[in-house]
Order: sequence, then structure tokens, then C-alpha cells
Amino acid sequence: MKIDIITIFPEFFQPFLETSIIKRAIEQNLVTIDLHQLRDYAHQKHNKIDDTIYGGGVGMLMQFPPFYDALEKLRTKNTHVIMLTPQGKVYKQKKAIKLSQKKHIILICGHYEGIDARVDNFIDEEISIGDYVLTGGEIPAMILSDSIIRLIPGVIQQASSEEDSLQNGWLKYPQFTKPDSYQGFDVPEILKSGHHKNIENWRKRQSILKTYQKRPDLIKTIKMTDEEKQILDEIKSKTDK
Ligand SMILES: C[S@@+](CC[C@H](N)C(=O)[O-])C[C@H]1O[C@@H](n2cnc3c(N)ncnc32)[C@H](O)[C@@H]1O
Repeated sequence: MKIDIITIFPEFFQPFLETSIIKRAIEQNLVTIDLHQLRDYAHQKHNKIDDTIYGGGVGMLMQFPPFYDALEKLRTKNTHVIMLTPQGKVYKQKKAIKLSQKKHIILICGHYEGIDARVDNFIDEEISIGDYVLTGGEIPAMILSDSIIRLIPGVIQQASSEEDSLQNGWLKYPQFTKPDSYQGFDVPEILKSGHHKNIENWRKRQSILKTYQKRPDLIKTIKMTDEEKQILDEIKSKTDK
């Protein structure tokens, strides 16, 4: 997978690219991330890439020609171009799974008032990371990159990402590590029993319970097995009393 990021602040990305799992994925050639300084495509003096807004209005808008030229250079027929914008569809794990199967992604980061709307003609998809407005698309681009890269086979253990919250719809069950007791707070006995089937059942029930308690909005989006439906009904009948 290759990710190209078009930004006026490439320096934002250095610690992200040089730390932990993302750094290792790059070193192992599981992903290539290239940063492209939009100012290298500037048409104005002093590498200026923004200007005032037609029709009036506060702030500056990023110009269309630098993006056009950058995309002309970077795009191939297999490229998926994403613009980070608060106007996009809100990002979800399901989208991360789909994007992790792409060969080449270009992420476009806006800044200031955003980007001249003519760029929309070259975008495959607009994505928002949530219903709030940030100063720039750099943090959203890191969020997308991180969530996509960790799903690329070989980056982390597949079993680990498959069990993650939201991956199959449910939130993940509670997890514990050593020590098994501290200041009167104990690890549930069942997890130390060595009885795999019982542990698996407990975890499944906990996943469903947590999702019902913390994110009931997710439940209607989950394709449940008969067993999961039955557990959910039991939980509802107990907790709704
Ligand atoms: C201040 S915002 C521009 C907002 C724009 N004037 C509007 O009202 O839609 C500047 C840039 O930050 C990025 N951005 C801000 N909030 C975002 C969000 N929730 N998701 C993704 N990108 C965001 C976008 O790249 C955007 O072009």
C-alpha cells in the first residue's frame, strides 16, 4: 500500500512516521508514506498557495491550481483520492477496513478556510473524522493513515485487530494483566481458570453487555448471530428490570 499526503505542513507528520508500529510498518515495506509539500506546486510568488475568497468572506482559501498539478503528478488509474473535510461522511472502522484493501491512497489536507471547490472534481471521497472543525486536515490524515495501516496484513497480529472493538461491530470485552490482585481489586476468577470455552463465553457476553451499556447506538448496525441475539435479550431483560 502507498499513501501520498498533500499538505502545507509535512513536519506535522514526522513523529507519527518515526514512532512505534507505523515506523516498523514503513521499515518492513508494508506501507510507503510520501509527504508532498503543496507549496512546491504554487503558482504565486513566495510559494503562496492561498488567496482571498470570491464573493467576499473572512479568511483565505487554498487555491485550486496547486492541488490540480499535484494530483496530475501523483494520481494513477488505481488511486483513491480522499479529501479530509468536516463536510465529509463521518469516519468509521468499516471504512478503515475497506481503505486498508486499496493499493494507493492520496490524502488531501486542507487548512485556513479550506480549498477552492473546483478540487471536488478530482476527489473520490470526502471524509470527516467527526462533527467538529479543526484548523487543518493533518491530524485527520494521521488518524486515517494509522487506522488503515494497522489493518494491513503483517503490521500487527491479525488476531489482535480482528478482536478489536468495532471490527465485528461489538466493543471488545474487558481485559486484565498482572498483578491479579492490587489494593483489593481482583482479576475475574474465570480468566485464570484455564477453561477456554468458559473464558470465550464470558468474553462474548461482556462484549455484548459493554456495547449495550456504552454504545447502544451501535447495536442496530450489527449483524448478529442467533447466539448473540439470545445473549442480548437476556442482558436486556436483566438490566431493564
Ligand atoms: C477550518 S477547516 C475548514 C472548514 C470549512 N471552512 C467548512 O466550513 O467546511 C480547515 C481544514 O481542516 C480540515 N478539517 C477540519 N475539521 C475536519 C474534520 N472534522 N474532519 C476532517 N478534516 C477536517 C479540512 O481539511 C479543512 O479543509
